[in-house]
Amino acid sequence: MEKQEQQKVSRLVFVLIPFQGHINPMLQLATILYAKGFSITIIHPQFNSPNSSNHPEFTFIPISDNLPKSQVSAGDLFGIVSALNKNCEGPLTECIQEMLKAEDPHDRISCIVYDSTMYFSQSVADHLKLPGICVRTSPAATMLAFAVFPRLHEQESMSLDRVSDLLSLMLKELAASMKKITTDGMLELRAAVADSVKKCSALIVNTVDFLEQEALTKVQELFSASAFTIGPFHKLVPTISGSLLKEDTNCISWLNKQAPKSVIYVSFGSIASIDEKELLETAWGLANCEQPFLWVVRPGLVRGSNCLELLPINFQDSVGERGCIVEWAPQKEVLANDAVGGFWSHCGWNSTLESICEGVPMLCKPFFGDQNLNMRYVCDVWNVGLELEEFEGGTIKNAIKRLMVDTEGKEMRKKAIHLKEKVELPLKEGGSCYNSLNDLVKKILSF
Ligand code: UDX
Repeated sequence: MEKQEQQKVSRLVFVLIPFQGHINPMLQLATILYAKGFSITIIHPQFNSPNSSNHPEFTFIPISDNLPKSQVSAGDLFGIVSALNKNCEGPLTECIQEMLKAEDPHDRISCIVYDSTMYFSQSVADHLKLPGICVRTSPAATMLAFAVFPRLHEQESMSLDRVSDLLSLMLKELAASMKKITTDGMLELRAAVADSVKKCSALIVNTVDFLEQEALTKVQELFSASAFTIGPFHKLVPTISGSLLKEDTNCISWLNKQAPKSVIYVSFGSIASIDEKELLETAWGLANCEQPFLWVVRPGLVRGSNCLELLPINFQDSVGERGCIVEWAPQKEVLANDAVGGFWSHCGWNSTLESICEGVPMLCKPFFGDQNLNMRYVCDVWNVGLELEEFEGGTIKNAIKRLMVDTEGKEMRKKAIHLKEKVELPLKEGGSCYNSLNDLVKKILSF
C-alpha cells in the first residue's frame, strides 16, 4: 500500500491483550494502518511481550500488569483478563499522559486503538479526551452475544429479534459454552466489553462482509459506532511473524517432499489444552489414518506435562517419515503449502480465516469461547468442513479419511477453493474491505 507522507502527523496508540490469537491480528492491523501513513505506538502488558524486533517501524512500550504468578501458571484465562483490566488502567493512563506531555505537534496522538478484551482502554480514552477505536479480533457474531449476555443469568435461553434460525442456534450454543464458565466476574466482564463498544468512536472487526452479513447487520442495529470490516487482516500484510514461540521451519522442507493435498495439518492454537488420554487418542488416530500429518504439539498442550514424553516410545518410529511433529509451526506458510489438504483445528478465528483464505477444508474440534460458533460457520454456513465428534482414535482416523479421501471431502475441497476465490474479491480495489479501509482512514483523520 502506498504511504501518504502528509498523514504521518497522526499517531495511533494500540493497546494489546497479551494472547497469541489477539497479538497477531492487532499487529497486522497496526501494519495495515502504518502503510496508510499513520505512526504507531504499541502499548502492551509485560506478560507475553511481543517481539519488537519484528517491527522496527513501531514504538513498543511495556506497561506494568502486576499479574499474580499463580494465575499465570494456572492458565486462568478469565482471571488474567479481569486482572489486566483492573491492573493496567493506571499504568496505561500514566503512559499516555507522558506521551501527551512530550508530544511533537507534527506527530500527535489521534486515537487509542484497543483490543475489545482490554475494554478499560475506552475509559482511559474518555478520561484523556481521546477517541477510542475498539477492535474485535473474533467474528462479528460474538458481539451479538455480548449485547445480550449480561442478561444470561436471568433467563435460560437468549433471543434476538429477527435473526435466522441458524444464527439463533449458533448464538444459543455460544451462550451455552460460555455459561459453563459463567461466574459473576464473567458476567461483569461481558457487560464491560459491551459497554465499551457502545462508547467507542468506531469499531473494527476482523471479518469479511459477505461471510457474516446477517450478524454484521444486527451488530450495526445494536451498537451505534460505525463498524469497519477490513478483514481478513493477514491478507493485507506481508507475512511477518508475531509468534511468541519460535517457529520450526523444518516442517516446510518436510511438506515440500509430500504429494499435493495429501497432508493433514493438526493444530489447536495457542491456548486450548487436552488431557493425556486425548493426546494418546490423537496419536493413535494419526498413526492409523494413512495420510501424512504435520502435528503441532505445543509446550503446555497437555497442561503441566512434557507432551512429547507422553507419546508412546515407538510413536515416531512407527509413523516414520509420514509424520512430522513440531512445537510451533509457521502456520500461514503451512496452510499455503500445496501439500496441505486438510486442517484439523480447534477453530480459533485466526486459524479459521487463515484456512479459508488458502482454500483448505477443515476438521473441526472446538474447545471453548467462539470456537463452537466458528465451527458452525465452517460446517453449516460455508460448508467447507466437518465436525470431529470425539477424541477417540477410530473416530479421528475415520474423520480424516472422510475429509482427505472420500468424495464428501473432495466436494468440500472444491467449495473451499471457491470460498478462497470469493474472499479475495473484497480485498481488491472497489471491494468491500478495500472501501471499508479507506473509510476508516477518513474517519481517523476526521478526529
Ligand atoms: C484465541 C482463542 O482461542 C480463539 O478462539 C479466538 O478466536 C482468538 O483467540 P487461539 O486459540 O490461539 O486464539 O487460536 P487462533 O485464533 O487460531 O490463533 C492462533 C494464531 O497462532 C494463528 O494466527 C496461527 O497462525 C498462529 N499459530 C498457531 C502459529 O503461527 N503456529 C502454530 O503452530 C499454531
